[in-house]
Amino acid sequence: MSHLVAPSLLAADFANLQRDIEFVNSSDADWFHIDVMDGVFVPNISFGMPVIKAIARHAKKPLDVHLMIVDPDRYIDAFADLGSDILTVHAEACPHLHRTLAAIRAAGMKAGVALNPHTPVESLSEVINDLDLVCLMSVNPGFGGQSFIERTYEKVRKLRKMGHEAGATFHIEIDGGVTTSNSSALVEAGADVLVAGSSIFRAENPGAAATAIKNA
Ligand code: DX5
Ligand code: ZN
Repeated sequence: MSHLVAPSLLAADFANLQRDIEFVNSSDADWFHIDVMDGVFVPNISFGMPVIKAIARHAKKPLDVHLMIVDPDRYIDAFADLGSDILTVHAEACPHLHRTLAAIRAAGMKAGVALNPHTPVESLSEVINDLDLVCLMSVNPGFGGQSFIERTYEKVRKLRKMGHEAGATFHIEIDGGVTTSNSSALVEAGADVLVAGSSIFRAENPGAAATAIKNA
């Protein structure tokens, strides 16, 4: 199976959001990546429910929602109601991660866990069969346009191996600093979902950038 591309709407033009959503609808990209930040777990604040509701009205591809918020359990049902297909929480924000993942699945969504750059993949060993996606942060979360942390390749390989050994099937998503230049190496290492914000929306030809990352 070929890998998936998830353009991050954080890099879209918020004054032309409908235009940028239609662009993703008609591009070679597969999912909408939606970054929710609370100004507590990460230093930045992005957007919340009313904006996501508006996005969902126009989006024709799955919504991949990345929560960079403390205590995400409070909002699981709300994100299900908004039409989220994948809901990803940060391991660092969840003292009861096993319970949180079960609650996301019980609400009818795919359950994802994101790991900050300093968090080892081994920390997921006890929930490896209880998740649908692992998002490896290849930058420190909070902002778009940062540069890719090279150690991520090693984390992807380790995590793929862990999954094989446990007989688990889940997506490995890479988030932060993904470009047309590092995409193929990431796929080769074992990633199968590539999030890309600036490298698509700030490209001279966003459609061509999405296609290039898709064909990596
Ligand atoms: C960072 C977000 C990313 C971000 C990626 O905290 O989780 O999804 O939008 O942006 P780029 O691709 O520009 O690094
Ligand atoms: Zn993200």
